Amino acid sequence: MFSHFPTMSLFVFWFLACSNLFVSAQAQEDPCAAIAGQKWVGASDVRACFKMFAYNETIKANIVEVVNKTMAFHTSTNYEIQAPAPFDDVHQDIIATLARVSSQSYDSDFDLHVDVATSTRTMGDGHSVYVNMCYDSTYTSYVPVPLVLLEDPDGGQNIYIAPEAYTVFSQDFFAGQVDIWQAALGNITLQSIAGAKVLSINNDDPWKAVDANAEITGSYQSFVDSVTLVIQRDNATSADTITLPYRARFGDSSKAFTDAISFWNNNCLATSTTNGSPVTNSASIDISSTAAARFSAQHTTNLSNSEPLIVDTILDLNSAPSVPMPSSLKPTKNPYQTASDAWSYMLDDGKTAVFSLGNFNGANGEISLMVGFNNLVRLLPGQKAERLIIDVSNNQGGLVCAAAYLHFLLFGNTTTTSPQALLPTKFRVNDLSQRIVQNIIDQNLSTKLLYHPSNLKNASNVQFSATTNYLMEDVEDVEVNGRADQFSQTIGQECQPFYYLKPSQTPQWTGEIAIVSNGRCASSCALFATTLAKEEKVKVVSIGGKKGIAQEYAGTVGGQSLDFSGIDSQIKSTGLKNDEWAPPDFITNSYQGITWRLAQGVDNNGQPEEWQSRPATQNYQLTREVIGSPWKIWTDMATKIFDN
Ligand SMILES: *[C@@H]1O[C@H](CO)[C@@H](O)[C@H](O)[C@H]1NC(C)=O
Ligand SMILES: *[C@@H]1O[C@H](CO)[C@@H](O)[C@H](O)[C@H]1NC(C)=O
Ligand SMILES: *[C@@H]1O[C@H](CO)[C@@H](O)[C@H](O)[C@H]1NC(C)=O
Ligand SMILES: *[C@@H]1O[C@H](CO)[C@@H](O)[C@H](O)[C@H]1NC(C)=O
Ligand SMILES: *[C@@H]1O[C@H](CO)[C@@H](O)[C@H](O)[C@H]1NC(C)=O
Ligand SMILES: *[C@@H]1O[C@H](CO)[C@@H](O)[C@H](O)[C@H]1NC(C)=O
Ligand SMILES: *[C@@H]1O[C@H](CO)[C@@H](O)[C@H](O)[C@H]1NC(C)=O
Ligand SMILES: *[C@@H]1O[C@H](CO)[C@@H](O)[C@H](O)[C@H]1NC(C)=O
Repeated sequence: MFSHFPTMSLFVFWFLACSNLFVSAQAQEDPCAAIAGQKWVGASDVRACFKMFAYNETIKANIVEVVNKTMAFHTSTNYEIQAPAPFDDVHQDIIATLARVSSQSYDSDFDLHVDVATSTRTMGDGHSVYVNMCYDSTYTSYVPVPLVLLEDPDGGQNIYIAPEAYTVFSQDFFAGQVDIWQAALGNITLQSIAGAKVLSINNDDPWKAVDANAEITGSYQSFVDSVTLVIQRDNATSADTITLPYRARFGDSSKAFTDAISFWNNNCLATSTTNGSPVTNSASIDISSTAAARFSAQHTTNLSNSEPLIVDTILDLNSAPSVPMPSSLKPTKNPYQTASDAWSYMLDDGKTAVFSLGNFNGANGEISLMVGFNNLVRLLPGQKAERLIIDVSNNQGGLVCAAAYLHFLLFGNTTTTSPQALLPTKFRVNDLSQRIVQNIIDQNLSTKLLYHPSNLKNASNVQFSATTNYLMEDVEDVEVNGRADQFSQTIGQECQPFYYLKPSQTPQWTGEIAIVSNGRCASSCALFATTLAKEEKVKVVSIGGKKGIAQEYAGTVGGQSLDFSGIDSQIKSTGLKNDEWAPPDFITNSYQGITWRLAQGVDNNGQPEEWQSRPATQNYQLTREVIGSPWKIWTDMATKIFDN
């Protein structure tokens, strides 16, 4: 991944990142009891607790069966066996891997988890990640050496400890930990290592460690005890070798426990939202309480809507750690907030405006973003902006129609925005999904069901009749990586007419635009950036990345994302839970994401956009002068990236 996406972990260095319940029935001491009730503990102590839980065949069989059967609904399972260049580092045959998992045993339940979780993460797809909250989100571990890639004054490039590291790690959030890290450093101060050049990581070339970390999509903590770095500090005459312990923080939404049994019972078993539940007309869809909603605001919705909102978002457990952003690092001049994570600014040059779009999630569904985008765009002429930077760094997506709306606002009603401002999609077809649709039709079930024909349009953007089994008509047989596969007819757009708020028909912006991305722009963000770049020929600037390697501006595209519990709700609602292809309920506190519909490409529109290259037109390298300050980055960039 690293070779194509310029991202580096800016924030946290996630380093390569019941008697029968226990491994040893005669456990003398309980390592979970030893850490109970403490906010911060050593990462190695957490691992000792996790390692207590015995490997259990029943649990393994359940996880394998749920994941395996859910993968039949993931559009990309066969594509990810081996993706084409430049995505050729994606090569995970998850079905074969699950067969291997099935046939082997493990030292503990945790070892099983690490194998399954790591395998899904190497599918290189932020939509198809397997998570067990028990191990993945009860604790989060930190080490105060976030790494950044900086360009040196001589044009060379090196890995550094982020210069702003101390500002971030000396906050109250890390109370008590700074003393522990300082003690580990001896006579070197924690403050003085910020900005140091990294010469090696665990006795290896730092690039090697960073690349290995980037192989794993969606972050992953391996609960290693410590990391050893050789660093060259600014004013030091020689290099220093430092070893820092990982410290793990108990999550704000993790359930308290007193010992191993209560840890397991409170954090590791399926909850009321792990599995799906029947969707009826009268039931209000409280989607905000589903498993996926725990990770992002992806499912925040206007509950009075009759139709489900279309969401495309990646599950990145650690993309937004709850570490507060120190105010000194935030842009403060002329901010104009438009939505929860969308801001606009006018730079001091008096002609460059910046939209900073953290995600496409609106507090009340699409409406709040649409209102916000309208205000944001209308404000620009008043501010005499001539050029616009749209910074989508770290934008993990959200509401698909909000992305379509912004595209429409900027470019008006043209052939590229009407009737479709994003991309058409296709479903992966299987026997069970065909029967789900048929049962919805035969039993006249709720239009709140995602598979309901009335929620979907055909390739000419005409709504299917309530009795059309669109998964049975025009099924396309394809071969993907040597495997027979089936996809649906092309599904058209579902965002227009934008009935919440009509956009103006004429373009609301006529100046130059540059999309700016650190490569972490996925899902709805990738749909937005890709259509602007490929259809509107908007300039796209990648931030950072290894010099000499072409950088992609957007990662996982998907089309519409979903998860096991969403599929399970469709299955339960249609009376098909006993079907041989229906995944059983998870018995553990687990989650499996999928791409439910796959967007079709702009340039090669008979093939998924997912594996078509999205190269940045320009690259902008971060330097010590600008790192840590978005304002300085935008200001410096504005002098370099525009034609006028
Ligand atoms: C394995 O887990 C299942 C499900 O939680 C449980 O019923 C069973 O007793 C466990 N088996 C052993 C040998 O502990
Ligand atoms: C996974 O599902 C496939 C069918 O898609 C089946 O052939 C295979 O045996 C299953 N694997 C496991 C480990 O159950
Ligand atoms: C820190 O102490 C070690 C011995 O413990 C010494 O070798 C080293 O020079 C000292 N470093 C600094 C920067 O004072
Ligand atoms: C290194 O020395 C320069 C000049 O004395 C000083 O400005 C800078 O703050 C020092 N850097 C560190 C990390 O101490
Ligand atoms: C919810 O959607 C309806 C339209 O279906 C709209 O009238 C209402 O204002 C929306 N509510 C909020 C809080 O956005
Ligand atoms: C299907 O259900 C809808 C709403 O529940 C109802 O209005 C409609 O008449 C039903 N159609 C048939 C054919 O029963
Ligand atoms: C979509 O549906 C309309 C109405 O049934 C039909 O005329 C049109 O040919 C369909 N388009 C495609 C691509 O199937
Ligand atoms: C775009 O223009 C077409 C043709 O005039 C019109 O039918 C359509 O409703 C317009 N789209 C929007 C979103 O206003």
